[in-house]
Amino acid sequence: MQKVVLIGQGYVGLPLAMSAVEAGFDVVGLELDATRVKRLSVADSYVEDVPSTRLRKALDTGRYQPTDDYADAVGFDVCVITVPTPLHDGVPDLTYVERAGAAIAPHIRAGCTVILESTTYPGTTEDLLRPILERGSGLCAPEEFFLGYSPERIDPGNPVWRLENTPKVVSGTDEASLERVRAFYDRLVERTVAVSSTRTAELTKLFENTFRHINIALVNELAIVAGRLGVDVREAIDAAATKPFGFMPFAPGPGVGGHCLPIDPSYLSWQAKRTIGHRFRFIELANDINEAMPQYVVQRLALGLNTRGKAVNGSRLLLLGLAYKKNVGDMRESPAAVVADLLVRLGGVVRAVEPYAGPAAATNEGVTLVDLTEAEVAAADAVVVLADHDSFDYALVEGHARYVFDTRNRCRGRNVEAL
Ligand SMILES: NC(=O)c1ccc[n+]([C@@H]2O[C@H](COP(=O)([O-])OP(=O)(O)OC[C@H]3O[C@@H](n4cnc5c(N)ncnc54)[C@H](O)[C@@H]3O)[C@@H](O)[C@H]2O)c1
Repeated sequence: MQKVVLIGQGYVGLPLAMSAVEAGFDVVGLELDATRVKRLSVADSYVEDVPSTRLRKALDTGRYQPTDDYADAVGFDVCVITVPTPLHDGVPDLTYVERAGAAIAPHIRAGCTVILESTTYPGTTEDLLRPILERGSGLCAPEEFFLGYSPERIDPGNPVWRLENTPKVVSGTDEASLERVRAFYDRLVERTVAVSSTRTAELTKLFENTFRHINIALVNELAIVAGRLGVDVREAIDAAATKPFGFMPFAPGPGVGGHCLPIDPSYLSWQAKRTIGHRFRFIELANDINEAMPQYVVQRLALGLNTRGKAVNGSRLLLLGLAYKKNVGDMRESPAAVVADLLVRLGGVVRAVEPYAGPAAATNEGVTLVDLTEAEVAAADAVVVLADHDSFDYALVEGHARYVFDTRNRCRGRNVEAL
């Protein structure tokens, strides 16, 4: 049996750990957050896509060990790094990757494999991580240990495309490394897709997210323009989507959030600027448009209230969903939270329903968290749909709200205005 160490037990690392246990590996889940380790060891999952029952089963095999002690990594065969790669003031922060690399390096033995999964710019695995691993281990890659990169495509809350049935791009610093990386993931997923270098694999991930980011910006701008032209943008998108080739539909919304779209494309534009002096204008434009969407939502809501003889100031506003998208509790970079802040600053009496985010939902100052009830809906001057969780009772909203401003196209009726 092979020993696998997964560094970081978050949205990416925990589902991977579960799959590795289920595939028969001996798994050490290294996690620096002591509270998370404690929760993992009592089968209390904090990741929506991993039910606590699945975690319980993994623990019961005796082959899953959550820990914050790097000494438990001793003797590993495969190590996968899934730590955060944030952006600070537009600049990539790779300190988590650097620290994880430095901490695991002393445990590297000849013949073992290290794989980076964190999203990052081309060159990170070979130019940044490799020297750290070599310094700390005294061994060289790829001659003495194997090194590769495999981007994660996990889509939190997506019940159809999961880790095992989503093709996984794999790469290595040489042919032998690629074969090791591929052999590992072949045991976890139905299909692996090999590319010829770690740089290509790193770019593939950034391209996927940049493509989505830009297309969302495009439909957001289209929604703004179509609204002013008096055209139903969603009907046009649906009609365009009947074209069987050369078109892919995207939906307008209050902006983009989560760990990927607001951040990953900027890794690419930052590196293009830094290394070759090229301004990636598509990315800059998409950032501008998507970042301005919360402000646009507030403007439209203010106009809607105005036509009903009301101002934002003093109005009771019920926000549905504070997470960055439906059916997840992830509040990172959530545009809904930005809308909530703007409305509080304008003097709105802001109440919000967010069943998934737990205590994280309470981070918006001045926002009262409530349940979705008939009384709450009826008492609101406006109900604003921001993250359209499937668990919300939209019939209740349509039936009792005086005015609904719907940024996600979930509600129907005379009092409903769409983004
Ligand atoms: N969340 C997603 O949907 C998603 C999808 C694809 C790719 N990614 C990428 O995967 C990476 C991880 O993202 P995530 O969403 O899982 O982050 P996360 O914050 O949910 O989890 C990362 C975990 O790593 C832990 N950690 C940080 N440094 C550590 C260290 N040195 N040793 C051990 N643990 C450490 C943190 O405490 C945290 O629990 C990022 O690069 C992200 O861009 C995320």
